[in-house]
This record gives sequence, C-alpha cells and structure tokens, in this order.
Amino acid sequence: MRVAMFGTGYVGLVTGACLAEVGHDVVCVDIDQAKIDGLNRGVIPIYEPGLAPLVQANHAAGRLAFTTEAAGAIAHAQVIFIAVGTPPDEDGSADLQYVLAVARTIGRHLDHPAVVVNKSTVPVGTADKVRAVIAEEFSARGARVAFDVVSNPEFLKEGDAVADCLRPDRIIIGADDARAVTVLRRLYAPFNRKRDRVVEMDVRSAELTKYAANAMLATKISFMNEIANIAERVGADIEQVRQGIGSDPRIGWHFIYPGAGYGGSCFPKDVQALARTAAQHGHTPRLLEAVEAVNEAQKGHLFTLIQRHYDRGEDEGVRGKTFAVWGLAFKPNTDDMRAAPSRRLLAQLWEAGARVRAYDPEAMGEARRVFGERKDLMLCESAFEALEGADALIVVTEWKQFRSPDFVRLREALGDAVVFDGRNLYDPQEIEAAGLAYYGIGRGRSLHA
Ligand code: UDX
Repeated sequence: MRVAMFGTGYVGLVTGACLAEVGHDVVCVDIDQAKIDGLNRGVIPIYEPGLAPLVQANHAAGRLAFTTEAAGAIAHAQVIFIAVGTPPDEDGSADLQYVLAVARTIGRHLDHPAVVVNKSTVPVGTADKVRAVIAEEFSARGARVAFDVVSNPEFLKEGDAVADCLRPDRIIIGADDARAVTVLRRLYAPFNRKRDRVVEMDVRSAELTKYAANAMLATKISFMNEIANIAERVGADIEQVRQGIGSDPRIGWHFIYPGAGYGGSCFPKDVQALARTAAQHGHTPRLLEAVEAVNEAQKGHLFTLIQRHYDRGEDEGVRGKTFAVWGLAFKPNTDDMRAAPSRRLLAQLWEAGARVRAYDPEAMGEARRVFGERKDLMLCESAFEALEGADALIVVTEWKQFRSPDFVRLREALGDAVVFDGRNLYDPQEIEAAGLAYYGIGRGRSLHA
C-alpha cells in the first residue's frame, strides 16, 4: 500500500521503516530540511538498535523516501500517518499545534479518498479535532473527498523500537467506520500473521488506551519507588521484596524495578497530560498526581543519599568532591536524555559545588548538546576514564557494560571508595567485601551504613 508518514522522529521513522520493510511504499515527510537531507544520505538522526540498516536497505530498495514536500506525499498516499511531536504545554497538557498543522496541510492537498491515522500520543478528542480541521480546509476550497480519521497509538519502547514495531503485542485500531478498519487491517496484515493482534475499538477508547498503558506502567514504577523508600527506613532490602512479589502473575516481573525515577519522552509527559485531561473533565486524578509527585521526589533521591553520606564527614560535604557518573541516557540502549534522572542529579551536584566526570555508551553527543562546555563537567571516553581522580561512583543508567565492573579496581580508583548505585545493579555484600561503601535504592543498609 502507499503510505505517507508525517514526522520523522522516533515513532514516525521507526514505523515508516518497518512498513517499508514489509513491502509498503512509504514517503516520510518532515519540515526539517537538514534532517531530510541527512536521511536521504543514510544519516539516522537518533540511536536506535537495528534502525540504521533497516532505513538504509529500504531506502536503497526504493520503498522508503524522505521529503519536505507534503503535497506530493499526500497525493501518493492511501494511508496518511500523523506521527509528529506533542510536547507538553506550560500547564502539562499536550500541545497539539504540530498535529493540527499536519491536519491543515492534509486538508489543503488531499484530493482522493484516504485514511488519516493519528499515531502521535494525543488527548482524547484529538481525532475529532483533526477531522474538523481537514473538513474546514475542504469546505474552504470546495473539496468533496471521503476520508476517515483513525486512532492507532504506538507502543514502541526506545531501545527496542524496531522489534516492537515488527512484532507488536497488540495493534490498536480506533475507528468509527468499518471501511477504515479494513484498510488498516490490510496495512498491518504482514505483522499480524500468527494470531490476530488487532484490537478494534472506538476512536476515543483508542486514544485513552495509550495513556492508560503508559500511566499504568508509570504507576508500577512509582509504587516500587515508594516501597523502596519504606524499605530503606525500616531496614529491608527492596531487591528481596521485588523477588518476593514478582512471582505472583497478577503482579508480574516487569516494571517493578526501583531506581532513579522514570524519564524519557513518554511517561512524564503522558502522566501529566492524562491528569490534565481528567481535571478538564471534572475528575481529580489523585493517583496520577501521586505517581508524578513520587517520581519527581525520586529523581532527587540519589542526591539525598550522597549528601547524607558526605555531610557525616569532617570536610565540606559534597563541595569540592569529584563524582564519576556512569550513564546519562534515561535508560539503556538509547542516547535519549529527555527528562533523564541524570539531568536532575548533575544539576544538584553542581549546585552543591561538586565536579562530575561522566560517561555514557551512547549519549555523549547528546550530553554535549544538553550541558554545553562547563568547568565542572568532564565528558569521558570510557567508564574507567570517568573514575580517574574521582572520589565516588554514581551509577544512573543500567547499561549492560556497567553490570560487573572489577570492584577491586573501583576501590583503587575512587578516593573515598564509595559507590552510589541508582539502579541496584550490584550485590551490596560483594561490593563491601571489596572494601567499598555501598548505597543502593531501597536497601535498608543504605540508611544505616
Ligand atoms: C514507554 C512505553 O514503555 C512505551 O510502550 C510507549 O510507547 C512509550 O513510553 P520508553 O519511554 O521508551 O517507552 O521507556 P520505558 O522502557 O518504558 O522506560 C521508561 C522509564 O521507566 C525509564 O526511565 C526507565 O528507566 C524507567 N523504569 C522502567 C524504571 O525505573 N523501573 C522499571 O521497572 C521500568
């Protein structure tokens, strides 16, 4: 089928490449000329495992094109995806200006029947707004063309996005019209062979499904961070508690890892946006507000542990200390630092007069962009280079390569021989046996050490 994909961010680029991979003819549109030029030369603007070869191969095969020319892409397409950003407004609601700008462009140029698909995460009721904007443009130019607007939210995880897209666990199609469902079922048929993964529903339910999924996952994380904080105070170890509850299939093993708080482009924004939607419709979202508040507090927790450790010493606390920081991306296998817990931590360390030597396997370019040049930041080439001259180590992102360092080497490198483990990667006993002091998240000993 012929597809136009508006937006070449994470969602648009991955979805476009995967649709091309199964044989569809995809034209990706973006207003960013430099990005489009780069993509046409095979330069992938984000780090996502498996994406570069997928884009390059399908581009070379002529099934995946990149352009800034919206009109041509619309003329080409039977299915038009809107996959542009919905950044948070000042009050936390999703800013729809980019989505509606695409809708306007579609309204101006569409002159044959097509299905318009909202892929961006958008508040309930957005499909109606998109439909209204297109209809407005149609009436302005006297166009009479049949079109449907469908909600088809994405559930891609950064770092696993290509696999999630090629092997989705569900395909949500929210449509008020059976014709549109038939078109999308045809489009997704190659991803839907072994069992029917399509869940059909009305448009508003589909829009809410996306928020409900992310809010549920964020809730699990904030819940575990809350229990971790209790564990810390009562002298229990959250890692043992986690093992103890995960085996109950009603609870499950996923998303029950306490840590430095959730970040990324989705959870913080979506929890807030859903809370705003609830409030706008007269419901006080008590649980969502708590999920958000717990997460905000959790992002400052590592620093609290660090401060508490150093305030007990004789010198000036954290001031003048140098910290090695392992991991800057909001999670492993991505270079994304949006709403990353590392950003809060570094700001707190700098504010307190400390210096940072940081390393991340993929996010160094992003870190340079986010932090700029500063005297109190050294971006290092390797995890061990970050340790040189450092007093303590802070692990913020659980990259695989940080999982089993040589603890003896760590002790020798670190002036104060202390490790703050923001992801509970290490066994406290093993690390202490190597002569290092250990602090984790929700591990009773962190408070009593
Ligand atoms: C998320 C959803 O998983 C995905 O379905 C949706 O389409 C977009 O949002 P993503 O933002 O890529 O995907 O990240 P995810 O892997 O879900 O992790 C989000 C955050 O939660 C990360 O900061 C991660 O470190 C944190 N997390 C996750 C925890 O702190 N504990 C956990 O147990 C799991």
